[in-house]
Amino acid sequence: MTEQEKGVALDMERLDKRLASTGRWSRKEIKDMIRQGRILVNGLPARRPEEKVGDEDHLTVDGQEVDCAPFVYVMMHKPAGLLSATEDKRQRTVVDLLSPELRRRGLFPVGRLDKDTTGLLLLTDDGALAHELLSPKKHVDKVYLAQVEGRIEVADVTALAEGMVLGDGLQCLPAGLEPLGDGESCLVTLREGKYHQVKRMLAARGKPVLALKRLSMGPLQLDEALAPGEWRYLNADEVAKLREGRLDT
Ligand code: URA
Repeated sequence: MTEQEKGVALDMERLDKRLASTGRWSRKEIKDMIRQGRILVNGLPARRPEEKVGDEDHLTVDGQEVDCAPFVYVMMHKPAGLLSATEDKRQRTVVDLLSPELRRRGLFPVGRLDKDTTGLLLLTDDGALAHELLSPKKHVDKVYLAQVEGRIEVADVTALAEGMVLGDGLQCLPAGLEPLGDGESCLVTLREGKYHQVKRMLAARGKPVLALKRLSMGPLQLDEALAPGEWRYLNADEVAKLREGRLDT
């Protein structure tokens, strides 16, 4: 007899498997937490790792609701010196900063920041959402704070707004440029992410970039409480905003 014929709902699975799929805890940790009474299923302490739970069941760990959504979204404050890649034979990558559970889950960075660029990096295992956030057609603005050599002038703002053609003939989409303070720093807003794009555009204007930090990506803002190298899960509001953005496009 199949599970279905026995009347077991198809979405039911082992408690430890479901919690481990969030990438937050290993099965061993979950087993220990059950023993310590820290996991509740519908308000009652879980008793065994193998008990079956489904989409309708309400799970909490240490009183916090656990979202067992099929995808995980993490915001990182990327530090300088790490590659935005999942692995590299010689150099450390941003994925090396994640927990072993998240690494096992296969999270990857959404788009690349240069090794020396810092700031907002989204990591997820949601390939479809990642694709949409990166597609220029979806109009997801990425905002960067750049420190430049020299000063940003009105002619630079106009050149970026018109859509620059770079030395190798690369046509860029119109981009935003807002000088800050004395013009030695500025905000650059892009809808695309070509290789070294901010650095190449500003270098072409005779204003080489000295430091670059990404502040936001669509509705997602870098949480300034995160020090470089730190990361946290997106909260429900941030995930909802990313998904809404997806419907708007
Ligand atoms: N543009 C750049 O030049 N570098 C980055 O890392 C991101 C955008």
